[in-house]
Amino acid sequence: MHDPSATSATVARTMQTASQRTFGLVESVIREMTRLALHYGAVNLSQGYPDFPAPAEVKEAAKRAIDGDINQYAITWGAKRFRDALARKASATFGWEVDPETEICVTCGATEAMFASFMALLNPGDEVVIFEPFYENYGPDCSLTGAIPRLVRLRPPDWHIPFDELEAAFNERTRAIVINTPNNPTGKVFGHDELEKIARLCCERDVLAVTDEIYEYIIYDGQRHVPMATMPGMRQRTVTVNAMSKSYSVTGWRVGWTIAHRDLTNSIRKVHDFVTVGAAAPLQEAGVTALSLPQSYYDSLAAEYNKRRNHLLGILEECGFRCFRPQGAYYAIADISRFGFENDTKFAEFLVREIGVAVVPGSSFYRNPADGAQQVRFAFCKKEETLNEAANRLRRLRDRL
Ligand SMILES: Cc1ncc(COP(=O)(O)O)c(C=O)c1O
Repeated sequence: MHDPSATSATVARTMQTASQRTFGLVESVIREMTRLALHYGAVNLSQGYPDFPAPAEVKEAAKRAIDGDINQYAITWGAKRFRDALARKASATFGWEVDPETEICVTCGATEAMFASFMALLNPGDEVVIFEPFYENYGPDCSLTGAIPRLVRLRPPDWHIPFDELEAAFNERTRAIVINTPNNPTGKVFGHDELEKIARLCCERDVLAVTDEIYEYIIYDGQRHVPMATMPGMRQRTVTVNAMSKSYSVTGWRVGWTIAHRDLTNSIRKVHDFVTVGAAAPLQEAGVTALSLPQSYYDSLAAEYNKRRNHLLGILEECGFRCFRPQGAYYAIADISRFGFENDTKFAEFLVREIGVAVVPGSSFYRNPADGAQQVRFAFCKKEETLNEAANRLRRLRDRL
């Protein structure tokens, strides 16, 4: 509450009492770019949210759930019908048998699922292996937990894993490895052989895998998503993080989950319970409908994204970008060196202000900003007309070549 008697000295003292764990946190660059896009009326290809509608039957199910008075707290670790639906889906899609009573925790999006897993399973000083470039939340997840990230750089243009470096990154303090496949921002899909080698390392060194599989259905060129938990020896030591956000185009619903061995799940549920109590009850009910959509839904989701991917890559190449072709997820990293800007931030500012297109500066995905200084990330989870409008604006860049 506002206290008009507070002096500036009181305020200064209050500011000093901000916890140390928040000191290293800065505002998400991605969400900041969305604000700039609104400010300049730019086409927003920065933040990864679709600008097209969610499936009609899923929206109808949410409305029915609210009208049917599913409006009070669900069971804290997830409504039974939704957990049952998740277990049925894992079994039908991957032959992966999950106990909905003990192995699932429903969370507020993949963001909370990841954070609750870190809080539940890591101690300050534990090391976590993370591939770079990385999704920007993993850094704050580490700093809020006190875990220490140990980065291993994926190598362009195919973003392959340098396995000698990966092996060298594992030591006696390593507690977990984070794997995000299909990957944001690179579009890499971790292959079966790569996952097998990582799994072997995890088993040999007694390390947990926390796998962010939120783009599992957005995958191209005949690739197949392989959940890490289904690799030999990994069932007991994998926390699978996922959400409705991307598969059903409902990033604002904030419904996610973890699947993990009952002992791991027990700890995750405790953190989740005290941080959020639970995810939105009517939207979990709508999730039951979403999870029972037929295979044709996922086929057409991937096919539509494939069209958007090819559309955007065509535009970018025509305008002078050199692109890394994504195999999954809905982002493309583009090299900007031909445009002669000092760095990615200057280029992104120019693009949003002068050209009217918002992107994410590549440095947001690297620990050392210099490593991403000639890259930007485009999101293509957008309607055809949005991509066309971006194309019209981006063509003006050709004058600068
Ligand atoms: C790799 C990855 N994980 C997690 C998230 C966040 O998921 P949610 O919106 O379900 O919290 C995103 C969003 O862009 C993402 O790209």
